[in-house]
Amino acid sequence: MSAAALIPSWPAEDIWQQVEPLLPGFSVEVLASVDSTSSELMRRARAGRTEPTLLVAETQTAGRGRLGRQWRSAGAYEGTGVVPALTFSLGLMLAPQDWSGLSLAVGVTVAECLDGASAEPRIRLKWPNDLWLAGDRKLGGILVETATYAGGPAAADAQQGRYVVVGIGLNVLPVLADGLATPPGCLREVDGNLTAARALKRLALPLVQALLGFAEHGFAPFQPRFARRDVLAGRGVTLSNGQQGTAHGVSDEGALLVHTAAGMQAITSAEISVRPAAGA
Ligand code: BTN
Repeated sequence: MSAAALIPSWPAEDIWQQVEPLLPGFSVEVLASVDSTSSELMRRARAGRTEPTLLVAETQTAGRGRLGRQWRSAGAYEGTGVVPALTFSLGLMLAPQDWSGLSLAVGVTVAECLDGASAEPRIRLKWPNDLWLAGDRKLGGILVETATYAGGPAAADAQQGRYVVVGIGLNVLPVLADGLATPPGCLREVDGNLTAARALKRLALPLVQALLGFAEHGFAPFQPRFARRDVLAGRGVTLSNGQQGTAHGVSDEGALLVHTAAGMQAITSAEISVRPAAGA
């Protein structure tokens, strides 16, 4: 069965019905537990399994964030059977001309899908990969990775592009602050009826459509939509090399524009972290 839900409360069949016409060979899998949905899809891709797959896990034992950080979502809910966060990865072959801005395009799509019809955006985006709620509280994060399969058909034909794994983690229920200065945000603050399963159902098809759109048109169509939710715009930021400046939005290739003493800089490197300057 292509919609291989091991846990019946997830809308695997519905999502499969919506997405399969766009991605032939698509499958949906829901696991009770895995180390990391992204690690699992990357392992499969390296072994030559590059079919389009949505892999959801109720628990991750080794969830990963950007820059080698951990992603933990169970916290206070550990062992209770409650699913406090939506954690999933979508893997598919993609061949954009330019990969720049892909994670920003994903962020725009997730924010728009889950924000509902509110006139003022409530879910904001912090370049490059975070979703934030008011008060600079992290709601979730995005991890985009690509895998190459040496010797596979994808390697032989550059037209086929690369297997990309888009991993998304979103807090659905309140998270214990665990000594953090700022407690994280959760989707229940945005919509009191959201569960992990309902959020996934809202997201899956638009996410696939956005990725296919990105492959065709790049980041440019997403740029104004990102700008609407850009949490850093106009704020003082400190780069991880110690330089300070003011954020001026993102370029049409997804670089963060920061005006520093040395002039306007386009920040693209994943090694550079950006955080609001003290007192900004
Ligand atoms: C970040 O905030 O740095 C990105 C977090 C991404 C977490 C998601 S959860 C599903 C997928 N599997 C992982 O191990 N990571 C991503």
